[in-house]
Amino acid sequence: MDIRTYDGSMNEWRGGAALLLLREEDCAALSALPGAEAVRTLVERGDFKGKKGSSLRVPLFEGGVKNLYLIGLGKAEGCGAALVRDTLAWGLRMAGRQRNESVLVPLTHLEPAFQEGGLSSSAIVGEAAGLCGYVFDKYKEKKEGEYEPFALKEVFVPGLVPEEARRGQTFARAQTAARALANEPGCVITPEALAECAGALAKELGLSCEVWDEKRLKQERMGALLAVGSGSANPPRLIHLTYTPKGKPKKKAVLVGKGITFDSGGLDIKPSNFMTTMKGDKSGACAVMGVLRGAAELDLSVEVHGLLAAAENMPSGSSYRPDDIVRARNGKTIEIDNTDAEGRLVLADALCLASELEPDAIIDMATLTGACAVALGKWRAGLFARSDALADALLAASRRRSEPLWRMPAEDEHIEETLKSPFADMVNSGPRYGGAIFAALFLSRFVKKDIPWAHLDIAGVDFMDKEWGVYSKGATGFGVRTCLDYLAGLSA
Ligand code: BES
Ligand code: MN
Ligand code: ZN
Repeated sequence: MDIRTYDGSMNEWRGGAALLLLREEDCAALSALPGAEAVRTLVERGDFKGKKGSSLRVPLFEGGVKNLYLIGLGKAEGCGAALVRDTLAWGLRMAGRQRNESVLVPLTHLEPAFQEGGLSSSAIVGEAAGLCGYVFDKYKEKKEGEYEPFALKEVFVPGLVPEEARRGQTFARAQTAARALANEPGCVITPEALAECAGALAKELGLSCEVWDEKRLKQERMGALLAVGSGSANPPRLIHLTYTPKGKPKKKAVLVGKGITFDSGGLDIKPSNFMTTMKGDKSGACAVMGVLRGAAELDLSVEVHGLLAAAENMPSGSSYRPDDIVRARNGKTIEIDNTDAEGRLVLADALCLASELEPDAIIDMATLTGACAVALGKWRAGLFARSDALADALLAASRRRSEPLWRMPAEDEHIEETLKSPFADMVNSGPRYGGAIFAALFLSRFVKKDIPWAHLDIAGVDFMDKEWGVYSKGATGFGVRTCLDYLAGLSA
């Protein structure tokens, strides 16, 4: 999609469609509105009041605008960048599905919405335009409703700063790549297939990519990852992607992603209603790949490593069992209490490896616990970090990108106590209460103490049941823009 600047008035616009995002106050102060008699008439008649979530398509038969879309933002108070981004995505999507190829989007009247957010309207329009058109439709023959072909090719924005819009589009592309991969089912994306995708990404962008197979994983003492993968006909893989900037890197960061290509629960098998959507249990790994794409496309001057711990968690005669004791890469032994607490196991080995790289920061992304989704809902991910500096930097990045995070406790002596095992160094699953904190404490045991580390529990936010704002049905790619924004900060 092309995003261009436009310096005429709305009355002179000849491109076809115009999308006008209006707050209730904009409707009251008609003289401040950008152009068009039609808007004035509709507002004066009370057909459109700017209520949040309201929209009106006005087909016009005279002048250059053929379809005028009026979209309500609600009251000015509470209308920030997040709402504008989501509403823009919704409006552009609607215009695109209704066969408009080109749309004018005046935004200058909304300037206050962008002021506190930290991103310009150009960046937001780049993100919204880049995110709105994607749907997971490649296996559908009949394209109707939300799968209606998307016609939009050009967006014109008065006062646009083109580099900022392009940067926004790069952020969106990184996220959409993650969505597209995470949406693929387990029969398509096995750990091996994920490794092939990583190889293709590396080739496209000049990254390096190393893949460890079962044999190598054994040599490398990755006993926890191997245990989780042992029940599946599709063997596990550890995938190491590296982006190296051209000049001297300012910092080194490692991103670790949970890449469970399907989580059946293993021998502690999930009930069927909990098993659907578990193709999404590789979302963390897909997000990491998205961030690497973004880092390379933005030419960041940070060395970025992506470690993807890929396995399929299946029940079979060769599965790992409850009561098994496995040894992670750092030599620590883990007693398996529950084979469905597999994410922390594959991450344990990957976090050991991440620590050995001695980076300035480690961030892991994982659909780790149902408990986190229960605590925070489907719109906010859990952030666990002992380093306030890293936590604050991620919170600031997440605010700019409107991917809400909530900081959770990363220390708790009582929960720590429940990690004790009678027969091994620790157990892999604890009591039901505080399940997300238990998992974070478990992970922390595999991170070298002096390295700032953050864990993002994206269970719940990784998958949407229905289209909403920038998201389509299915995988969201949550966390990609936040991590990329954080890395861009290190690079500045
Ligand atoms: N992949 C799941 C967590 C999950 C749940 C992600 C819902 C997305 C949506 C994870 O592997 C899991 O099964 N966790 C268990 C842990 C328990 C056995 C200690 C859980 O949350 O129930
Ligand atoms: Mn599980
Ligand atoms: Zn899982």
